[in-house]
Amino acid sequence: MSQTAAPLTFEVTRRTDPRPDAEREAVLANPGFGTTFTDHMVTATWTRDEGWHDGRVTAYGPITLMPSAAVLHYAQEIFEGMKAYRHEDGSIWTFRPEANAQRMLRSSTRMALPQLPEDDFLASLRALVEVDQAWVPAYDGGEKSLYLRPFMYASEAFLGVRPAAEVTYSVIASPAGAYFSGGIKPVTLWLSEHYARAGEGGTGAAKCGGNYASSLAGQLEGIEHGCDQAVFLDSSTHTYVEELGGMNLFFVTRDNRLVTPELTGSILEGVTRSSVLELGKELGLTVEERRVPISEWKDGAASGEIAEIFACGTAAVITPVGEMRWDGGSCDHRRGGEDIGEVTSTIRTRLLDIQYGRTEDTHGWMTRLV
Ligand code: COI
Repeated sequence: MSQTAAPLTFEVTRRTDPRPDAEREAVLANPGFGTTFTDHMVTATWTRDEGWHDGRVTAYGPITLMPSAAVLHYAQEIFEGMKAYRHEDGSIWTFRPEANAQRMLRSSTRMALPQLPEDDFLASLRALVEVDQAWVPAYDGGEKSLYLRPFMYASEAFLGVRPAAEVTYSVIASPAGAYFSGGIKPVTLWLSEHYARAGEGGTGAAKCGGNYASSLAGQLEGIEHGCDQAVFLDSSTHTYVEELGGMNLFFVTRDNRLVTPELTGSILEGVTRSSVLELGKELGLTVEERRVPISEWKDGAASGEIAEIFACGTAAVITPVGEMRWDGGSCDHRRGGEDIGEVTSTIRTRLLDIQYGRTEDTHGWMTRLV
């Protein structure tokens, strides 16, 4: 796919009717997740002939698409999830944006979408956060942030099945509190035995909407069984743990190993996942990326070999897993113990301290936006 040689610039047109300060502050006091959006959005267009062009920051609002737009039919679409964090001195930062930019490039390749260069991706985030900086929640020692959602979709009006010749890139932003409304309460997982999230050679490693759509039936089944989220197994053997609908999984063993399913091509390479692996090593844990049989989970919970389980992702950070249920059984490795284990809590705090500038960023993970 062609790239523009010149960097993409974003022409800003500020809206004349931004949300009144009092209304915005009311949202920021209790943002929830993904329900309220800032005043502006980024858009840019790619065409086969011109490459990337027409970068803009304009009022957040409905988009115009023809009913024949390819994305509505063939789901040629990808996205990213990141956050902007306000530090105590008022400055605004984001976490490992180059990792998200690189993943978007990999997702683009898999979904036959054009490549958005890393610098343009970075510039798009800066452009939006600069204009909507008042929407980044004040530093309060908690976990509020501005969730950033870059996405790219086939906007060409054409029903033939081929990579679109016109594509739109956009970034929207939404103030965020805790992803799960219950705060840091362990989640209960449903073991999805009938539905897989992704398959060998499929799109599981790409951050495309289809992976999330395919997780919903399993999630619904879980909700019917009183669970919060579903956990998916590999689609070929139905034996190995893959990930949740939108989060990677980690196991902490009694003998201090930190185990996570290896990247087989059907698992999303989470930025939080790879950061947790680094932090785990620094904490002296033995880190293992390997296939994790579901029997190991069930047996380890029963024997006490598995001490802690947590899920991780940008939106929900690190969330302890409590129980797992399946058709005809359940297991709970906590055995009446703490809601959040010591290792889970230490890694969670360490990650948040880096993101909110409360500790030295020895990895160079933070990038200042404003
Ligand atoms: C994220 O953590 O950013 C995710 O991708 C989960 C999201 C789909 C809500």
